[in-house]
Amino acid sequence: MNVPLVDLRAAFAPVKEEVFREFEKILDGMQLFQGPNTVALEEEFASYCGAAHGMAVSNGTDALFAALMAAGVGPGDEVITPAHTFFATIEAIIHIGAVPVFADVERDTLTLDADAVREAVTEKTRAIVPVHLYGQAADMDPILAVAREHGLRVVEDAAQAHGAKYKGRPCGSLGDVASFSFYFTKNLGGVGEGGFVSTNDAEIAEQVRLLRHHGHVSKFEHAIVGYNLRMDELQSAVLRAKLPHLDANNAKRRCHAARYDALFADTPITIPTARPDREHVYHCYAMRTPRRDEMADWLGEHGVGTGIHYKNPGHLQPALSKHPHRAGDLKNTVEACRALISLPMFPELSDEQIDYVGARVKEFLASQAI
Ligand SMILES: Cc1ncc(COP(=O)(O)O)c(C=O)c1O
Repeated sequence: MNVPLVDLRAAFAPVKEEVFREFEKILDGMQLFQGPNTVALEEEFASYCGAAHGMAVSNGTDALFAALMAAGVGPGDEVITPAHTFFATIEAIIHIGAVPVFADVERDTLTLDADAVREAVTEKTRAIVPVHLYGQAADMDPILAVAREHGLRVVEDAAQAHGAKYKGRPCGSLGDVASFSFYFTKNLGGVGEGGFVSTNDAEIAEQVRLLRHHGHVSKFEHAIVGYNLRMDELQSAVLRAKLPHLDANNAKRRCHAARYDALFADTPITIPTARPDREHVYHCYAMRTPRRDEMADWLGEHGVGTGIHYKNPGHLQPALSKHPHRAGDLKNTVEACRALISLPMFPELSDEQIDYVGARVKEFLASQAI
């Protein structure tokens, strides 16, 4: 049996006909920027996130960049964030000219540790960027409390957390502003690149709108020096078609995770922690195992796709040697990078496929006498 890490064809199949019909309409009309699909997506996804404003943009990296800039983060400001994240989180901070300050993640949830954040605050700190990693919200209340005490902005990196909830509230409206990625492997993914900024702050929203479209306010008038961070109308049509399926797909991911959890109950594997006060949407099923790299090879040889999220922590990336940054004690981050492996996770996974993956994992453990 072959079980891929993700199955992009299966993800597109249910919306294929609807999308093709919409593509035909769009390409007949040729309104390719801020057309009806983009405008509607902005309303629909913002409302899904419990946010008053939504701006569709080019990708998740640009979304975070624009969110930070619109929130007033600038050159020389310190931004506290985890090093256990996709490198894009760090790039967005550095492209602003700000200094990433890495705080450790909690050992179990692998999201930003509020105590570590508190220790990292200095008089230069301007913002905190918690990452809702693998589809589970960071522990936002204590993070927001630190932010309130020190007058900091909180910018959620929700690239992996479409539909995830914290204490009943959706990611995307928990801080001052949030960024999402619609990269095609994401829980809500397009057929190319895409991103989104959501916020309840009208000024931040206005600033993001200016930044994404060359500071354009009216014909021939540019209020600020902006960027081209636009989403195109075709991509918006795909995302709009997929949005109504998101909750059902996330529920399927939770069922698959529960099946994996049960299969590994009597093994030395540490299953992902899902806190009861959060709704995890399992963008990844990232578990800890002994002999991680050997397991990845074994599973690959037996037709099972795996991922490693992430092998090298952000603060140890060669790129950072050229940029100012600071790192606290990141022992949980470093340990996670050594032990985590992501198993196949997508809504269309069958029980048979999950059982096959579970059986191969157990065979590997037995072969190593673990
Ligand atoms: C945590 C996180 N932040 C930011 C990004 C960047 O998103 P994009 O690839 O759409 O630029 C990603 C994408 O994988 C991500 O996982």
